[in-house]
Formats: sequence, C-alpha cells, structure tokens
Amino acid sequence: TVLIVDFGSQVTQLIARRVREAGVYSEIVPFQSAEAAFATLRPRAVILSGSPASVTDENAPDIPDAILSSGLPIFGICYGQQTLCEQLGGKIEGGLTREFGRAFIEVQKASPLFEGIWAEGTRHQVWMSHGDRVTMLPEGFEIIAASAGAPYAVIADEARRIYGVQFHPEVVHTPDGARLLSNFVHKIAGIKGDWTMAAFRDKAIADIRQKVGDRKVICGLSGGVDSSVAAVLIHEAIGDQLTCIFVDHGLLRMNEAEEVVTMFRDHYNIPLVHVAAEDLFIDALEGEMDPEVKRKTIGRLFIETFEAEAKKLGGADFLAQGTLYPDVIESVSFTGGPSVTIKSHHNVGGLPERMNMQLVEPLRELFKDEVRILGRELGLPDRFVGRQPFPGPGLAIRCPGGITRDKLRILREADAIYLDEIRKAGLYDAIWQAFAVLLPVQTVGVMGDGRTYEFVCALRAVTSVDGMTADFYHFDMDFLGQAATRIINEVKGINRVVYDVTSKPPGTIEWE
Ligand code: XMP
Repeated sequence: TVLIVDFGSQVTQLIARRVREAGVYSEIVPFQSAEAAFATLRPRAVILSGSPASVTDENAPDIPDAILSSGLPIFGICYGQQTLCEQLGGKIEGGLTREFGRAFIEVQKASPLFEGIWAEGTRHQVWMSHGDRVTMLPEGFEIIAASAGAPYAVIADEARRIYGVQFHPEVVHTPDGARLLSNFVHKIAGIKGDWTMAAFRDKAIADIRQKVGDRKVICGLSGGVDSSVAAVLIHEAIGDQLTCIFVDHGLLRMNEAEEVVTMFRDHYNIPLVHVAAEDLFIDALEGEMDPEVKRKTIGRLFIETFEAEAKKLGGADFLAQGTLYPDVIESVSFTGGPSVTIKSHHNVGGLPERMNMQLVEPLRELFKDEVRILGRELGLPDRFVGRQPFPGPGLAIRCPGGITRDKLRILREADAIYLDEIRKAGLYDAIWQAFAVLLPVQTVGVMGDGRTYEFVCALRAVTSVDGMTADFYHFDMDFLGQAATRIINEVKGINRVVYDVTSKPPGTIEWE
C-alpha cells in the first residue's frame, strides 16, 4: 500500500489514480488522521499532496514525525515538498513569484526517479501551481531538475529516498507525471505493480464471504452502474443469500425498468423483487412545483417502499450499497464552515440507521471508472457498464414544474431519440451526461398547414470528470438540427427544441 497524505489539494484524488494505474494499491487520508492511518495501514511508501495552505502560515499542517523518521520512501508534491523541506531543516519563502500553469524544467542530474523517461540536460513540460518555494535545501538534498521560475523544481535525497517536486505530476498537463509517480512506487519504493481488478475481485469476494457468513443481504438496485456492479459481485460471493429490491418509481427512462429486471432476474438469476410503485410516486408528485419538495418526496417514498418490501422478505442482517471511493474520502476543510446545500441528493442515506442493518459496501475503495472495469470483469455487458450517470429522482427533475404521466411520456420519447442520435454519431462515450428536459412552456408553431401550441424540449449535454464542474458539449450544428427535427417529427407534444449552453458553475447539470 502507498499512503497518500491529503493536505487539501483539489487534485489529491488524481494522485491515488496514478498510483493505482501503476498497479499499486493506494489510500488517501486527511493530514489530521495521517499518523493513525500510517500505523494501521503500514504502507511501504508515502506521498504528500499539495495544499491551499502556505508553509509560512502560522497553523500550517505538518507531516507526522512517525512518517518522517520511518525510513520509508517519501514523495512530496508542491506543499508536500515545501513542508518536507521545512520540517527537515530547509527554508521556504512565500510570495516571491507566483507561478501557475505550463512551465518547462531542465534535468540537472540523473536519478532513479527519471529512469526511462528523462535524461540529463533535457527539457520537459510540467504543470505548476504555487506561490511559495524552497530557498534552502535541508542537509542531504540536492537539486535534480530546475526551471527559471522554480530553481528547486525537483529535489532529492537519494540515500534516504526522499523526493520533492514543485510541480504537479498527477495532472495530465504534466505529460510524464504518471511515469514519474510509477518510477517512485516501482523503482524507488520497490513495490510490485500487481494490483489488478481480477485480484481486487477475488479479495472482495473473500471479504464479503467472511463478513456475511451465512446471513442475509438485501440490496437496493437502482438500475445504475454502481448498485448493479455491487449486486453482481455480492451475488458471486454469497449467491442466493442476496436479494435485490428494485423500487421502480416510474421515473426511469425508456425501457430501463424492463432491462434491469431482465438482466438481473433472467440473465444473472439473482433473486429480485420488482416493486412497481409508479402510481404511488406520481400521484404524490403530481402538481408539485418546488424542486426540493419533489426531491424530498421521492427520497421519503423510496425509503418507505424499500423498508416495507424488506419487511415482507423477513428482513436481513446487511444492506448492500454501491458507495464509491470519492464519497468515502473525508474532505479536508480549512474554512471549517458549513457548505451550502444546492440540491438534496436522493439515495438510501438514512436507511441503515432506520432499519438497524450493517452495511456491505464492496466498492468503497474504487473510483467510478474502476467500477466500470470491475463490471466488465464480472461479465456485465459493455453497453450497460458504460452508461452515463442518471440521478436517483430520475425524470422528475428533468420536468421542471408539475409532472404528469403525459409529460413523462413525452420526455421519455424525446430523450430516447436524443440518446439514439448521440450513439449513432459515436459521441456517447465522449459525453459525461446527455439528456432531454421538458419545459413547462408551450409555444406556437406551424406543422403542415396548421397552427400548433406545444411544449419546448431543451437538450443538455456536458463533459465533466467528476460531475462537480462541467462544460456544455460543443455539438456540431448539423447534429443538433438533426436531433431537433427527429424529436419534433416523432414526438407528439413537442414543437420546439433548444440547446442548453450553460456550464457548471454557474448552472448545475440537472435542471432541478
Ligand atoms: P448537478 O445537477 O448537481 O448534478 O450538477 C451533478 C451530478 O449528480 C447527479 N445527480 C444526482 N444523482 N441523486 C443522484 O444519485 C440525485 O438526487 C442527484 N441529483 C443530481 C447528476 O445527474 C449529475 O451527474
């Protein structure tokens, strides 16, 4: 294991990604709990992240002494480099030159860190983002790469295997960064790169068996990738001790409910309870205009329905969830203030406490794309595993204003045509999320010789890496024209189509 100490950088997760891509398991811990994690995980190397803090601040976070004196290989990035230097007896100065973005460094000296990538005297692109910098090295250190703006771009104490870089090797704008990190874990720390998804699967199955024994597990299946992969994995571990409950709220996309039921019940033979609860949800939502009330109503009904079904099954000891690593990592906060709720996300939060069940969360250690790889490893079809994210409250939040069964029908048809066009154009995988929204607005049009007065459909498509920020997708106008024509011709109830060109922020991905 490689331990990654998080000092609050925006890109700490990327460090973990790069290390795992090198075939080595890694875990992120906030600096406040680094000492305890270091003792329990017993890592073979430590990486220190960047930070919004400055080493020159009074309360700047430190690396625990236990790590510094462990004799293990250490790699400090940006703030990590600076605090390393300071704690080992060097000097840091703030605010001399601030450097952000692309920079070029020159290699001064060969090092195992550069093996197979960077030779002495060559220049390389890196990505900088810092205000402070090292001005005096601790004893034992030397400069092995430098640039005009960052004379201490890469420093090393080869004997103690401690390295520090001023730039960010974990971002794609440092083209050789992934290989630097892989040299650190393989060549310097001597860790073998044998962490693969097949190995993960075997270990996860063994863990589930050990935890569950001969007891029962229920899993709330939403039709999404995460809960599906979790269910298939758990089924492989404990077979029919697992029952899935699929609460069908009638807010799914075209044919989605049938696909889920067919795949789980017929293809995988996983015991599945399909709760057709459309009437319950839609009757409760009809006429409700407030987005937060809609979300909360759906969340509440979901929990009540799930609970009632679980009772009918005679209960279970465990509840399975498709929680992912980004939901688990404790975020490092410097402001300490509460963050504002933009939307109350709907999931099974609160269920385990209410139902007094233990959790089984076999995907807790994985990133989204790793879950997709695991899904393929488990034999789930590509088309299913590669699906774009879909929100828990479903089409209800893509129908601003009050929903009705007829509006949902219109939206479902338009959305299916839009996605069909996207797949045909080969764009599905390039887009994070694409969907139609049915606006509560009617406009005048002319079809044949007649006047029409029908709904407006908005199309949305965004690129994103994590859903936190997003840019609208830059379609070719001919593509949009073609999608609009098909929607207006084929869907009764829509006579106008518009495209949403809002990024996030200031917009959100969903409309409600
Ligand atoms: P927003 O609209 O907040 O969406 O920019 C960010 C990502 O989260 C998804 N989303 C949800 N997912 N339950 C979910 O499971 C929800 O209530 C929910 N609301 C939004 C959204 O589709 C996008 O991927």
